Amino acid sequence: MFGLVNAVLCAALLSLAGCNGTGPAPVPGPNPDAAEYSVTIQAPPPAAGIATGLQDHSGQAVTAACASCHSTKLPDTSTRRGEDLDQFHHGLQMAHGDRSCLSCHNADDYNSLRLADGTSVAFAESMQLCAQCHGPQFRDYKHGSHGGMTGYWDLTRGARTRNHCMSCHDPHAPAFPTLRPLPPPPDAVRHEENSHE
Ligand code: HEC
Ligand code: HEC
Ligand code: HEC
Ligand code: HEC
Repeated sequence: MFGLVNAVLCAALLSLAGCNGTGPAPVPGPNPDAAEYSVTIQAPPPAAGIATGLQDHSGQAVTAACASCHSTKLPDTSTRRGEDLDQFHHGLQMAHGDRSCLSCHNADDYNSLRLADGTSVAFAESMQLCAQCHGPQFRDYKHGSHGGMTGYWDLTRGARTRNHCMSCHDPHAPAFPTLRPLPPPPDAVRHEENSHE
């Protein structure tokens, strides 16, 4: 039984490889059957929820799904700046054009994002969202001239690893380089203190 299966398989493989005497000899090279290695995109972990600061019994951080609050809270289409957030999400820096939050977040399902035509996009697929408004950079990214890569150009020789847009750009404040905020210079601090007098 196995012998028969093997014989059939071997015949199929041989004829595929062109080794049955009639086909051309395989081209010599590092990988003659030209199987392509994969391209991996190193995406940041998708934003599935908000850290609660609690841990479960196995020590894992407990997160609250976005929808756990937002399914009972009416969407606010007017929110567009960090300063608009006085109840929650304090400290979120927003410097990305004059977009409302809900031009990217999905008011019908806060566990996802949305395109301009209303199509829902999973957090894990967020590059589709960036591509919608930044076609030229996305094209450059696909051609490899934006966003960097490691590994092989020739995928028949080895795998390639790519960054995600958000490896380099914060979706809320995407200007590059992403600098950590520094304390203001002493003058500015003094000025602020004065203005509160
Ligand atoms: C603990 C409850 C809670 C969780 C969890 C939560 N949010 Fe919110 N969210 C709020 C509240 C309250 C506001 C309103 C804040 C304000 O306007 O001051 C808000 C506002 C927003 C807004 C602005 C638009 C609007 O409808 O007010 C967006 C966008 C948003 N949240 C996205 C998210 C996403 C994405 C997640 C998950 C990663 C999340 N939220 C998780 C409570 C929550
Ligand atoms: C240009 C599109 C865009 C806009 C506009 C935008 N977001 Fe987001 N936001 C994203 C993307 C993309 C993610 C997912 C990040 C990830 O997967 O790590 C995200 C993640 C979040 C999260 C969860 C992670 C975190 O950073 O805390 C919250 C909360 C959130 N957004 C709230 C808001 C609020 C509030 C506004 C408006 C003040 C807003 N967003 C505006 C694209 C946007
Ligand atoms: C709905 C349209 C829209 C979406 C979606 C969007 N952007 Fe933008 N983006 C803009 C606009 C408009 C500007 C110009 C903002 C300005 O001039 O202040 C911009 C500016 C930028 C800049 C330049 C910032 C600077 O100050 O130089 C970067 C980088 C960027 N976006 C990256 C992203 C990434 C990454 C994503 C996906 C997470 C994304 N954008 C999603 C509309 C969008
Ligand atoms: C390896 C880091 C990296 C990745 C990944 C990356 N970018 Fe950029 N991006 C940059 C740098 C650096 C700049 C600013 C330098 C410049 O002007 O080219 C920039 C600039 C931009 C700008 C501002 C316009 C411009 O050309 O100056 C936009 C928009 C943008 N990127 C979008 C994207 C999108 C969309 C993706 C994902 C498809 C992405 N980037 C992936 C590093 C990156």
